[in-house]
Amino acid sequence: MARTIVLGGGDEASNSFAASLARHSGLSYASVERKIFPDGESYVRVREPLDGVDRVVLVKTMAPPQDKSIIETLLLIDLLKEKGVGEVVLVAPYLAYARQDREFLPGESVSVRALLRALRRVGADALVTIEIHKEESLRYFEGRAVSVSPYAYMASRIRVEGDAVVLAPDQGALRRARELAEALGVGFDYLVKHRDRVTGEISIEPKSVDVRGKRVIIVDDVISTGGTVAKASELLLSQRAESVDVVVAHALMVGDAASKLRRAGVRAVYAANTLPPKDPGLVHYIDVAPLVAEKALEVP
Ligand code: R5P
Repeated sequence: MARTIVLGGGDEASNSFAASLARHSGLSYASVERKIFPDGESYVRVREPLDGVDRVVLVKTMAPPQDKSIIETLLLIDLLKEKGVGEVVLVAPYLAYARQDREFLPGESVSVRALLRALRRVGADALVTIEIHKEESLRYFEGRAVSVSPYAYMASRIRVEGDAVVLAPDQGALRRARELAEALGVGFDYLVKHRDRVTGEISIEPKSVDVRGKRVIIVDDVISTGGTVAKASELLLSQRAESVDVVVAHALMVGDAASKLRRAGVRAVYAANTLPPKDPGLVHYIDVAPLVAEKALEVP
């Protein structure tokens, strides 16, 4: 009889997301074996017998080191197709390289395009990710692809008291602020940010929002170094915001991001469980696998 299984990609974040996804969709769960050879090359093995399995939902997040995660993903998809699996649905909770989605400076690679083409060409039939930086990037995956927006779902797991407002760090992220704010039943707005593409310097100018006495919730897709959110938090607290919390899809938390955020007065970060957990005490994780099970496994 035809069967679907959920396969965790071997690393802890992928496995726990996959296990939750399997539980919430009533599917069976298995994991893969992985190791790294002394010369640095990756090795993966699927011990689960695949006879009679016609669909595999492979959960593999592209956590740092991203390039290793990506090669493991490619090896796994290729292996599954060679084993005769009819349909491989890749669930990549965090899709790496999504922010390099165009040629900002002449001669730059459009990295997300290269990645999505590679995933498709090696054999992924469908792709499900959470909050890709720009939804338009999905067109580079020539197959069924969906990016699940987690903010409304996350809102139901966050307690907001008092006079609160949701702010996006820039106008491009206003959709995220609207979605979260509507689910929380509060107002929203955005800040004006400028990033120097060469030096990486960020400056943020205040927008016409009076945050005095307000509980501010900043919403963004990614915290990487924490620079964007830290600057916003400092600015908002200097404008007498009562507190600053953050809701983010992907908490990469690179280097000293956590101490940067604490120094900038951030009270708490609520992140989807798309990446390995970091900095307990500051970052609170919300399991969004049920949302993926509910919405994304039915990719049209
Ligand atoms: C930028 O376009 C993204 O939406 C994030 O605001 C940015 O990637 C965050 O990076 P960092 O934490 O290093 O400031």
